Amino acid sequence: MTEISITRTANPRTPPADDTLSFGNVFSDHMFMLDYEEGKGWHSPRIVPYQDFSLDPATCVLHYGQAIFDGLKAFRGADGRIRLFRAGDHAKRLNRSGQFLCMPELDAAMVEESIRALVDVDQNWVPSKPGTSLYIRPTVIATERFLGVHPSRKYLYYVIVGPVGAYYKEGMNPVKIMASEKHVRAVKGGLGAAKTAGNYAASLYAAEEAKKAGFTQVLWLDGVEHRYLDEVGTMNIMMRIGDEVVTPPLNGAILAGITRESVITLLRDWGLKVTERPIAIDEVIAAAKAGTLEMWGTGTAAVISPVGELGFRGERHAINGGKTGDLTKRLYDTIVGIQYGTAPDPHGWTRLLGNRVGG
Ligand code: COI
Repeated sequence: MTEISITRTANPRTPPADDTLSFGNVFSDHMFMLDYEEGKGWHSPRIVPYQDFSLDPATCVLHYGQAIFDGLKAFRGADGRIRLFRAGDHAKRLNRSGQFLCMPELDAAMVEESIRALVDVDQNWVPSKPGTSLYIRPTVIATERFLGVHPSRKYLYYVIVGPVGAYYKEGMNPVKIMASEKHVRAVKGGLGAAKTAGNYAASLYAAEEAKKAGFTQVLWLDGVEHRYLDEVGTMNIMMRIGDEVVTPPLNGAILAGITRESVITLLRDWGLKVTERPIAIDEVIAAAKAGTLEMWGTGTAAVISPVGELGFRGERHAINGGKTGDLTKRLYDTIVGIQYGTAPDPHGWTRLLGNRVGG
């Protein structure tokens, strides 16, 4: 790849104190940018001071939503060193999302390199308090100026980063989710497996309804029968029913979560039975009533998030007595231990900042 040019800000800011951090409202001093033009390919990789964009009002992303993103994190370990978690896998997923939206392929090694270079320049923004991290948001938007509906011939790939704390105000306390029969997030054959802006726009109405009813997020059911679990607003859903761990399969309607995949791998390492299969809402409610259910969500932002209550058809069902289950706690501790470098990383998911891609 052409070398990344770096222009440092003339006005570096002081990052906020770690104990003031929440999610997604503070950004570092710099950002990465790369342009695409048909016939020219991806060009001009650069790190520049964090700045506004100027876009023509007819820029197609503003009208037809041709936009994708991913989300990953860098952690400052107890040893003071910075680790990126599964950056290569996030880069590959960004490309898979791009395929759904007819975007030109990015070189996955270049995506990883852009992230590493930006985190390196802004490494003083990586917080160190346990539970905090640097959230990294690689994004691609269609930038051609036109109002006809066809794939753009120009794109901007950019990366912004910012220090974050817990995603939910509940922190590590159990969240409450409400299953919706009325709204649908995605159907097989649609964009459900892509990390694209439209999926999040489509989730807002139902999420607001869930909030008004006193829940943290929506639990989406499948778009055809409104019966089988798909995923939660910002995380994949997983549960233990008796001695089996189950999670919905990657059926084309849900996002292929990287934390989801990490958790499945860990559970299998521990000798537990994990099945990816359709799970009907009535099966979940029966297990909640029988007291054999433990449920959690997985996601980069959410990490491992215990679910303590499930709402469905106006009824509220406590899960595991509304408390964080033992398996949920073990998963959280293990994932977080790997991310902060305090637990062994047998699958090589983390890479220290000083080590080059492939190094
Ligand atoms: C993530 O977990 O990184 C996500 O992308 C969720 C986000 C929409 C808050």
